[in-house]
Amino acid sequence: MATQQKVMVLGAAGQVGTDLVHALVQRGYDVIATDIRPADQVDLPAPYEVVDATSADNLRAAVERHGVQTVYHLVAMLSATAERFPHRGWTLNMQSLFHVLELAREKRLRVFWPSSIAAFGPTTPKDAVPQHTITEPTTVYGISKVAGELWTQYYHLKYGVDVRSVRFPGLIGWRAMPGGGTTDYAVDIFYHALREGSYTCFLGEDVVLPMMYMPDAVRGVIELMEAPAERLTVRTSYNIAGFSFAPRDIAEAIRRRIPDFTIRYAPDHRDAIARTWPHTIDDTAARTDWGWAPAYDLDTMVTDMLARIQQKAVSSLP
Ligand SMILES: NC(=O)c1ccc[n+]([C@@H]2O[C@H](COP(=O)([O-])OP(=O)(O)OC[C@H]3O[C@@H](n4cnc5c(N)ncnc54)[C@H](O)[C@@H]3O)[C@@H](O)[C@H]2O)c1
Repeated sequence: MATQQKVMVLGAAGQVGTDLVHALVQRGYDVIATDIRPADQVDLPAPYEVVDATSADNLRAAVERHGVQTVYHLVAMLSATAERFPHRGWTLNMQSLFHVLELAREKRLRVFWPSSIAAFGPTTPKDAVPQHTITEPTTVYGISKVAGELWTQYYHLKYGVDVRSVRFPGLIGWRAMPGGGTTDYAVDIFYHALREGSYTCFLGEDVVLPMMYMPDAVRGVIELMEAPAERLTVRTSYNIAGFSFAPRDIAEAIRRRIPDFTIRYAPDHRDAIARTWPHTIDDTAARTDWGWAPAYDLDTMVTDMLARIQQKAVSSLP
């Protein structure tokens, strides 16, 4: 159970951060939320501060000011955006991670940092990807995730830093909009289905990818962070799986609830990225070591997403 532990979330205003802050507060953690976005653009159930994760001084001052014990480091430039700005993507993803790891080494902070299925690439087996496998990604984002995994393991082995990680699949949530990833279509589709009754998908209809509903993802993060250290056998990043589907499958699931819904396909550069990623993930190590199990499948996720977005729209009326 959570005690009144002081935790800081970096990148708290993003898609994952928004849900993670809600979940941590609900579980009784004393949370300080931070992001580069101005406070008036952020709506979170925890105290909020602007912190630039690329500034070691900024980060140190915030950690010291709040007596932080655990950092959830969610700042990153995501896959599709980083392909447009490769050097900026690399710099943001790596510099912020190094600052966090160095601070963790010095102050004995515990750290959560997510990797991604983007750590895999065209030479990785496509189905039931094992925990230990070929990781030769062809995107800048994927390269930053493989490098990050190895650096987190290095800080653990060399300096004893308690840093933990999962390889997130594509994440679907209703609280915040996604931030420039290759799987963003699986969130956008709900808003278009409800507003216009139609959607143009930027992936081809047959691209099967590993995905997960956000409530499972944030619960998984908290369970991993609460697991006894001696149970953990992976210090690069744990495979975790939810369910896998292609755009035509989610479209069909939406059509079962909104019969007039139509979809067309206009694959762009993101389709090429998605086709380098695997279809399904073997998450046996996470299940064995810390009891990981997803609660949602495609159908229960679609039902919940539609209900939540409709509720959100109604409650945001003046
Ligand atoms: N969303 C997914 O489907 C997914 C899948 C796999 C892995 N991940 C990983 O999860 C983490 C969170 O992803 P997300 O989807 O919430 O991303 P996001 O883009 O929605 O959020 C990232 C946040 O970081 C903030 N940020 C950017 N530069 C910053 C800086 N210099 N200092 C402080 N904050 C800064 C942004 O304002 C944004 O709010 C990332 O590491 C990402 O790689 C996400």
